[in-house]
Amino acid sequence: MNMFSDPVAVVGGTGFLGRHVMAALGAGARALSRRTGFDLLHPDPAALWGCSAVVNLAGIKREVGTQTFRAVHVEAVERLVAAMKEAGVRRLVHVSVVVARAAPGLPYHHTKWEGEEIVRKSGLEWTILRPGVIYGEGDDLLAHLSLMIRAAPVFPIVNDGSAPVMPVDAKDVAAAVAAALRTLASAGKTYDVVGPERLRLRDVVSRVAEAEGLPVSIWPTPAALMRFPVRLMEATMRQPLSTRAQLAMLVEGLAGDPGPARKDLGLEPAPFSVERVRPLVEKISRRPPFDFRLWSAPRPERKIPAGPFLAFLAASVAALSAVFGLMADQWLGMTIAMAASLAAACGFRAARSRIHPTILRVVLGLAAGAILYGATRVVTALLPALWPAWGPWRDQLYAWRGGHGIGFLLPTLVLIVLAEEVVWRGVVTRFALERWGRPLGLLAGALIYAAAHAGTGNPLLLAAALGCGLFWGWLYAATDDLTAPVLSHLAWDLMVLFVAPLHPAV
Ligand SMILES: NC(=O)c1ccc[n+]([C@@H]2O[C@H](COP(=O)([O-])OP(=O)(O)OC[C@H]3O[C@@H](n4cnc5c(N)ncnc54)[C@H](OP(=O)(O)O)[C@@H]3O)[C@@H](O)[C@H]2O)c1
Repeated sequence: MNMFSDPVAVVGGTGFLGRHVMAALGAGARALSRRTGFDLLHPDPAALWGCSAVVNLAGIKREVGTQTFRAVHVEAVERLVAAMKEAGVRRLVHVSVVVARAAPGLPYHHTKWEGEEIVRKSGLEWTILRPGVIYGEGDDLLAHLSLMIRAAPVFPIVNDGSAPVMPVDAKDVAAAVAAALRTLASAGKTYDVVGPERLRLRDVVSRVAEAEGLPVSIWPTPAALMRFPVRLMEATMRQPLSTRAQLAMLVEGLAGDPGPARKDLGLEPAPFSVERVRPLVEKISRRPPFDFRLWSAPRPERKIPAGPFLAFLAASVAALSAVFGLMADQWLGMTIAMAASLAAACGFRAARSRIHPTILRVVLGLAAGAILYGATRVVTALLPALWPAWGPWRDQLYAWRGGHGIGFLLPTLVLIVLAEEVVWRGVVTRFALERWGRPLGLLAGALIYAAAHAGTGNPLLLAAALGCGLFWGWLYAATDDLTAPVLSHLAWDLMVLFVAPLHPAV
């Protein structure tokens, strides 16, 4: 069913709430997000042409790379408003959060509020909806509560668990979006969208446990003690159980007034009852408790521009060639050249934003280093038979210490490896992948990486760089991140050069 004559663009229509909104709006609703090629940080007005209205659901709970609170909640809203005006779309339903307010010390709350202010001053026909915590199929709330209740009989609750919350069903929030679009009288108004009951945080946990049929012992835990674990989860997990922004919301609670939305939008939100929650947690408990996916589709982002890339590549290759051709102490030369290339590579957003370690990426990187070392041992054992003249090239390769002690070699090795991965995978291979896709892009990246070692005149090093370039390029492309290739490269170098060398160093 499509209740609108022209399509409604739902920005963030691929997310948790977005899927419920898409279902509520029916055919004719058009989901837009980075996954569909629409990046709100650089919105293309053409995507909005012919739409009767826009619903903006884009939001983030933690900052990753270019997706900062300011970029997504403030600058993106400014650009969306401008794109709507250019496309001639006047109606906007903007989804914020019930805790949004001017609070510079709380970046999530503050930027959500700044986004609201931009909408209020936009001159468009706007309605702002401010949901409390939302539950429903595909949510974080029930999924994480249920996981914690199943994992341990004790539940550490923020402070004494008395912060007020009014959980609202995602279907009700979606119904509020549809009602706001239908109800012109809602233009120029801001509505809280919360559940009908004011509960304490600990009541929410108890109800979920009851729906699971599991006992739970709730332990009051000072918020200060939770900050470090939450920060750690944010840094290492693809789906952290909580983020700093969420913790801040749980400390103060998420309560609002359901009255105005009831009156103007006819919204009768359902209660957060054990009966409603039970089928949802039953579904969740059938899912595996952890997300073991390692492979991610490349994030659509603006391509690395060709002009700056070619200048960067030429400068990096020239610096390395100068080192190999001119400097007696090649290790020191490599360190200086790669440090300069690393600094230049950080000018490319794509290189900066793709080092996000998660536990799985770290484990994968170390395992890949071990596998590569095993493969190197096998190849080294076979080489004398396949290529009798390889010995002198190997000896030249192992003359790398150049009289330096371990105190100099170890830290510079870490720098060189990091720089090599950021430069050759994060910029060069990425540029090739963006233009030619896999596997051609991987091959091109590895060939350029090998060619950069041509200045040594050592065919063994060239072959090793080609093989390793393919392997680390694949790791990078598969995880869309530099963590695994950096760790694999470092582990391999440490094994080959220090821990279990294949040849005595000169
Ligand atoms: N969940 C809650 O309990 C809750 C409570 C109160 C308010 N809210 C608000 O409700 C909205 C939706 O939340 P949610 O829980 O559904 O979040 P979600 O599942 O993380 O979905 C966020 C959506 O925004 C899109 N997005 C993010 N950055 C984008 C960008 N730069 N350009 C285009 N699209 C972008 C994402 O798609 P891509 O990643 O593919 O781009 C995704 O479709 C947010 O504004 C949130 O603040 C949520």
